[in-house]
Amino acid sequence: MAAEETVEETAGGKALKPPPDRLYGRARGHALRARQEELIETLLPRLRWPERNFAIAPKELWLEVGAGGFEHAEAIAAANPEIGLVACEVFVNCIASLLSRLAPEGVEPTIPPNLRVHDDDARALLRTLPAGSVSRLFLMFPDPWPKARHAKRRFVHPAILAEVARVLRPGGLWRIASDDPTYQQWVEEVFSNAEAFSLLSKSGIRPPDWPPTRYEAKAIKAGRQPHYWTFVVK
Ligand SMILES: C[S@@+](CC[C@H](N)C(=O)[O-])C[C@H]1O[C@@H](n2cnc3c(N)ncnc32)[C@H](O)[C@@H]1O
Repeated sequence: MAAEETVEETAGGKALKPPPDRLYGRARGHALRARQEELIETLLPRLRWPERNFAIAPKELWLEVGAGGFEHAEAIAAANPEIGLVACEVFVNCIASLLSRLAPEGVEPTIPPNLRVHDDDARALLRTLPAGSVSRLFLMFPDPWPKARHAKRRFVHPAILAEVARVLRPGGLWRIASDDPTYQQWVEEVFSNAEAFSLLSKSGIRPPDWPPTRYEAKAIKAGRQPHYWTFVVK
């Protein structure tokens, strides 16, 4: 039986296939402008973690998975200058939008001292991190993969929860937001079976210290109701 077909996990009593080894390759959308290509070549290497470490000695390591336009990551890093945040994103066009904000044409780039980028699958990064090395993880509006046969591609997956529980220190927090009704139900289901985590808070209103994201704004405009959860590692 091929690895993709092996049924190993369950969520809410339903058999669930394990996640494919690589959820994503490096993804590209529309062609980058010449300036964006240049920034990917010259500026991204200066932000790539762990090759480029933080410019501070961070008190804690925080991670964001699927940073999109990095607005949330930039705001979290600016509001918490004593921590180091590594923001993961596979989509090169999203990374280019961060780089364009950091380096407006004709201006020296500003590199936030406590924000670094992992421009590949966040799961690959998780596997490299020592146990208990991360204090917070942010998963803001993950791709919902609403079809049941794609459930194995969702970041909230029993196999990934086990990996997150390993890298988060006891008492570490995992914040999740989703506007997708299938994913909202899925989060409830998967975490109700996850012994390593307990629910700290759940709300239909974004907590005040959670910066907004671009995807959230689109969801609200389209009439969808986001849910916001914080789970804590026992
Ligand atoms: C729906 S978007 C949300 C973006 C952003 N968090 C927001 O709220 O605006 C999900 C993002 O997660 C990224 N992504 C999905 N899986 C990922 C993974 N395994 N590692 C890193 N990034 C991932 C996608 O490329 C996409 O940009």
